[in-house]
Amino acid sequence: MGISVCIASGKDGVGKSVVAANLAIVLSSLGVETLIVDGDIEGASVGLILGVDPGGLTIHDCLSGKADPKKAVIEASGTKAVIGAIGIEQLVGASLENFPSILEDFTGAFDIVLVDSQGGLGDNTVTVIGSCQALLLVLTPDIGSVTNGLKILAVAKKLGTTVLGALINRSGSPYDIPADKIADLMRLDVIGELPEDETVKRALFEGVPVSVGYPDSPFSKEIRSVADKLIGRT
Ligand SMILES: Nc1ncnc2c1ncn2[C@@H]1O[C@H](COP(=O)(O)OP(=O)(O)O)[C@@H](O)[C@H]1O
Ligand SMILES: [Mg+2]
Repeated sequence: MGISVCIASGKDGVGKSVVAANLAIVLSSLGVETLIVDGDIEGASVGLILGVDPGGLTIHDCLSGKADPKKAVIEASGTKAVIGAIGIEQLVGASLENFPSILEDFTGAFDIVLVDSQGGLGDNTVTVIGSCQALLLVLTPDIGSVTNGLKILAVAKKLGTTVLGALINRSGSPYDIPADKIADLMRLDVIGELPEDETVKRALFEGVPVSVGYPDSPFSKEIRSVADKLIGRT
């Protein structure tokens, strides 16, 4: 039996999906049987980050009962993934009711199931956090992200989801709140500090995951260090 880990944040735009997809690639390359599931059903982007051609089965097809979840698992950039649909049509009537049981099946078949989530505290996000055994909080080193991140920690606590730690993303400005201060404020381990890095955007533009296209970039190097630390903790 593996572990499900939600990649969560207090708000969108902090880099959850980029972190989740690249972490899945790196964990897979280290020999950990890893699956990344797009749990952001309103704003699915894992397929785009992995550079997958749309048109195959998606988490939306699994949730609606149209597809056997096992058949929706694809291989991309060396990891396994269940991506989300990006069109508006699949959103109509999409419900996460079956998400917990689908996820449980996946954790039976993989070592780590990373679940990319929607930011904030909406019903979908709460369902996804509550379905996962553990959570990694992604935040940017600013007061808004920290404040909203604290709300996610409170939700995780209430739902019994273990918080593994925080990943600070887009760091490198002199006006960042320092990592040790964030750790103190949030009473949480900072597992990684991922730098602001142009190659993240460049890779997205080119349709290739940054850890594959630019393995020596500062972001990719730090993702590898996060993966090493996670292997020791899960
Ligand atoms: N470390 C980084 N350096 C530069 N740009 C980044 C970094 N992390 C994320 N981004 C950019 O920020 C945007 C939002 O990232 P995304 O992963 O979609 O956030 P979220 O899933 O939290 O909404 C993307 O355009 C991405 O390229
Ligand atoms: Mg996202």
